[in-house]
Amino acid sequence: MRRKLAAGNWKMNGLSAELDQIDALTASHATPSVDLLLCPPATLVAAAAARVGSHPMMIGGQDCHMEDSGAYTGDVSAPMLADAGAGAVILGHSERRDAHEESDEMVRAKAEAAHRAGLIAVVCLGESLDQREAGQTLDIIGAQLAASVPDAATSDTLVIAYEPIWAIGTGKVPTLEQIAEVHDFIRARLEDRFGTEQASAIRLLYGGSVKPDNASDIFAVSNVDGALVGGASLKAADFSPIIKALE
Ligand code: G3H
Repeated sequence: MRRKLAAGNWKMNGLSAELDQIDALTASHATPSVDLLLCPPATLVAAAAARVGSHPMMIGGQDCHMEDSGAYTGDVSAPMLADAGAGAVILGHSERRDAHEESDEMVRAKAEAAHRAGLIAVVCLGESLDQREAGQTLDIIGAQLAASVPDAATSDTLVIAYEPIWAIGTGKVPTLEQIAEVHDFIRARLEDRFGTEQASAIRLLYGGSVKPDNASDIFAVSNVDGALVGGASLKAADFSPIIKALE
């Protein structure tokens, strides 16, 4: 069966002092019954990995370049993240698709780079409000899924995060039926592409305004295997109850 996963994305937040939040999380969840992933900014990956120590919480990046090295000023490669102690990387987050004009093809190339470096690729998919209101949600998600995920992905190397853009940081959350519809659809598309056995083991996260007070309801939805949490992952006091809701 799929092991649940609680993932936190600090986005462009966090200085060294915030590493204390990691101490609080590892102390509160000394022997977690779910997988934990925390993705701080690139500047903190190595220090965060060191702070985690032997605790099973994984540290991840928030993006990587599609090339392994080269003249790409300011970018971070997948081997660099792995070398710093990361075990995973978020790819294709809507904030990067938007602000950095990342296409599905770029996300796929980045996922391939992540896999070369031994990192789990957490590939994000999501529709805009206009697309949802136009009834295009499943078409958009299906197209992103088809083009953003490498053919060689497996349940050990791929996690999918469904993040409706209009729910990110807004406090607006889809209905449980809307979440179920998209997660069931993603599972079916994965089965078509990778076969039932492999697809049934790939974890599907929901992301978008997950908070301590709505986490239990969201985690009870069909094919929701955990969450990718933004704002509420910044403080252990908020992230911890979300983790507990998953356990
Ligand atoms: O990666 C995380 C998502 O963008 C969700 O962010 O929990 O602040 O809405 P949020």
